[in-house]
Amino acid sequence: MPKTPVTVVGLGSMGSALADALLAAGHPTTVWNRTASKAEPLISRGAILAATAGDAVRASPLIITCLTTYEDTRAALEAASLTGRALVTLNSGSPAEARRMAEWAKERGARYLDGAIKNVPSAVGAPDTLLYYGGDKAVFDEHLETLRVLGGDTVHLGEETDLAALYETAVGGTLLPALVGFFQGAAALRSRGLAAETLLPYATKWFEMIISVLPVFTKEIDSGDYSEPASSVDIFHAGAAADLGLAEEGVDVAWQQPMHDLVRRAVEAGYGDRSISVLTELLSVGAAGSSTTAKRP
Ligand SMILES: NC(=O)c1ccc[n+]([C@@H]2O[C@H](COP(=O)([O-])OP(=O)(O)OC[C@H]3O[C@@H](n4cnc5c(N)ncnc54)[C@H](OP(=O)(O)O)[C@@H]3O)[C@@H](O)[C@H]2O)c1
Repeated sequence: MPKTPVTVVGLGSMGSALADALLAAGHPTTVWNRTASKAEPLISRGAILAATAGDAVRASPLIITCLTTYEDTRAALEAASLTGRALVTLNSGSPAEARRMAEWAKERGARYLDGAIKNVPSAVGAPDTLLYYGGDKAVFDEHLETLRVLGGDTVHLGEETDLAALYETAVGGTLLPALVGFFQGAAALRSRGLAAETLLPYATKWFEMIISVLPVFTKEIDSGDYSEPASSVDIFHAGAAADLGLAEEGVDVAWQQPMHDLVRRAVEAGYGDRSISVLTELLSVGAAGSSTTAKRP
């Protein structure tokens, strides 16, 4: 069975890995990048370099883009005729930007699927690499076999085009605080002449513990019942002093202040004896899905 021809627009680290996986799976692959020289390694592996983004779009029924932002994607495709093409974007961005992109694609007659890849370029093509999509299910079904080439764990979240961006930003919010917390730990150990590597076994167990309690928290959040805490707001409030105590070991702890402020606000709102997951109520500031069902004392 002949493989679907695919065009990949955007050959940065991620776009190049996507094009590489498609070539390896035997898809006729046309590529375009603003800086054409980045296509050279792919051309040597069989990719066809299009002279313009418009030519690239004309070459295949399925167009996969991986530029820095949605805005960059629109800029690159501005002069291309997208009518009838299946357009799949795989850049990061906010749900609102995804909705704008969907409108733009619709106006140009494209069939649009918005995707997100939550892994690094070297993981592209692996059986457990997760990519999720929101938008036109018919496009997803039609090209599922091709999309699975990019990662075996390929999921359609729903017809709403902003769902991939919504889940991506929802999951992604943990990354920077978790990493900065880890780097702060490494700085604390360094202040005592200890290698960051010695933190690894304990940090790993810590992250495993966090994963293990997430289902408890989601149950509390979804039911709005925070009244039987395994870890209360008061406990976290008391712990803030110990966190800040790392300053005495020569560590800059200023980044923690907004999180401690959030915990203090929860205490002031009367949530001290509730589960720490009640912070979700403070973080919900009136969006469509926000809940006001927290059982206050
Ligand atoms: N790398 C990762 O680990 C990773 C993981 C998950 C998701 N992502 C997401 O994937 C997307 C791409 O990431 P990347 O790592 O591949 O970035 P990158 O290496 O910096 O590449 C960016 C790409 O966007 C192109 N570009 C940017 N602005 C443009 C414009 N105005 N017109 C035309 N082309 C433009 C660049 O073209 P030039 O080559 O001409 O500059 C390049 O092809 C981002 O949204 C990123 O968040 C990346």
